[in-house]
Amino acid sequence: MNPLAIELNAELNGTAAGRLMSKMGSRLYFPKGIIAQSAEAKKSAHAANATIGMAYSKGLPLILSSIVYSMPTLTPEQAVAYAPTAGVEKVRQDWKKLIAQKNPSLNPQNISLPVVVPGLTAGISYMADLFLEEGGVMLASDPCWDNYQLVFEERRNARLKGIPFFSKDSIKASRPGLDLEAINKAVKEEAKTGAVRIILNFPNNPSGYSPTKAEYDGLTKIFKEAAEAGADVLVLCDDAYFGLFYENDIYQESIFSALAGLHEKVLAVKIDGPIKEDYVWGLRTGFVTFGSKGLGSAHYDALVKKLMGAIRSSVSCANTPAQYLIIQAMEDPRTISEKARFQDMMLKRYQAVKQFVVSHPNHPNLTPLPFNSGYFMSFRTEGVSAEKLRQELLARHGIGVVSLGESCLRVAFAGLDEEIIESTYKVIYDTAEGMGKGKV
Ligand SMILES: Cc1ncc(COP(=O)(O)O)c(C=O)c1O
Repeated sequence: MNPLAIELNAELNGTAAGRLMSKMGSRLYFPKGIIAQSAEAKKSAHAANATIGMAYSKGLPLILSSIVYSMPTLTPEQAVAYAPTAGVEKVRQDWKKLIAQKNPSLNPQNISLPVVVPGLTAGISYMADLFLEEGGVMLASDPCWDNYQLVFEERRNARLKGIPFFSKDSIKASRPGLDLEAINKAVKEEAKTGAVRIILNFPNNPSGYSPTKAEYDGLTKIFKEAAEAGADVLVLCDDAYFGLFYENDIYQESIFSALAGLHEKVLAVKIDGPIKEDYVWGLRTGFVTFGSKGLGSAHYDALVKKLMGAIRSSVSCANTPAQYLIIQAMEDPRTISEKARFQDMMLKRYQAVKQFVVSHPNHPNLTPLPFNSGYFMSFRTEGVSAEKLRQELLARHGIGVVSLGESCLRVAFAGLDEEIIESTYKVIYDTAEGMGKGKV
């Protein structure tokens, strides 16, 4: 059991709450991960706050005009009525059209209608409820988003097995990228049990990496081979940061496109939404879409009803006004140009980070993981504890970053204005080097 859970259980020991606690209740805790570190940074990161997965400009979250101006225009029905359990029909249909537009090689006839869930976290958790047995294994990238541990291990009582997505060689290669060999090995090993369950997240949190076309094909081949060898394969595509691509060699479709029609034994699930793509983090609206060569409309109806059961028995339904605001944002003529402007802002921040990193190679303690997309980039730390470095940056320099374990430091450049990126990274590099030499 996690030490933080043990601490909470000890506190409740001898009380009615402690005695009544379920096994799942006993396993749960609030991690000292991204959310806790971000709350700390909110108080002390006076110079730069690069902790949270949100995009800021001059201290305020980015927001589309359609969202700002549509709020007061909602009808009573749109503002306060219950939404259907699977979501408002129009937003589901519109989102499906958008998925097809953004993923031209996907055949929309062969996928389910997206189901509305209250944010991507809920969608991932529901997929664990439906497809992951207690004691089962979910494969994920190592490093991965820290909440996967809470969802798959503590809540579902299954095991999260990390695959090192970036080896030393794949980081140092002339074109840094995924270690497909390691991924292949882990998938084949798991396939021996008769089933593979994996969650893929591109653009990846925390590395900020998205695959090239060759890597995308390589990943698809790995799953096809596992299916051909007889295993059932579940691939959860966590597309939280979809669309925020900054390099031309990235394949700009979700891997869901290829997996949805790949093989009867492969079930792909796309978990996405406007949360990060459309800068509406707090609207808590995500979508879950199923795709498999082996499924037809009656199967999809049955799967959607299963998911509706998970929704009904947890939050009952998602937020109604948010769904109507998203419909308005999709229809608003300003949205495309505003999103292009925000994307350009993110691109410039990415380029500033890239320029700094490339012009300061061979840092003795910080090695950047490959990054080309999304909100973040991360360093592998050597000779310096990522957590101690985080604390030092916050306490001495007012810079908030996130440590994930002892050797991964994540910097959310989406939260940093372009003009402070160089100075912020200089402090990070100098502080890490000073700590590495024992001078701090
Ligand atoms: C990789 C990844 N997946 C899913 C989510 C969940 O997003 P939501 O806010 O929609 O629950 C996040 C949020 O930070 C994330 O980083």
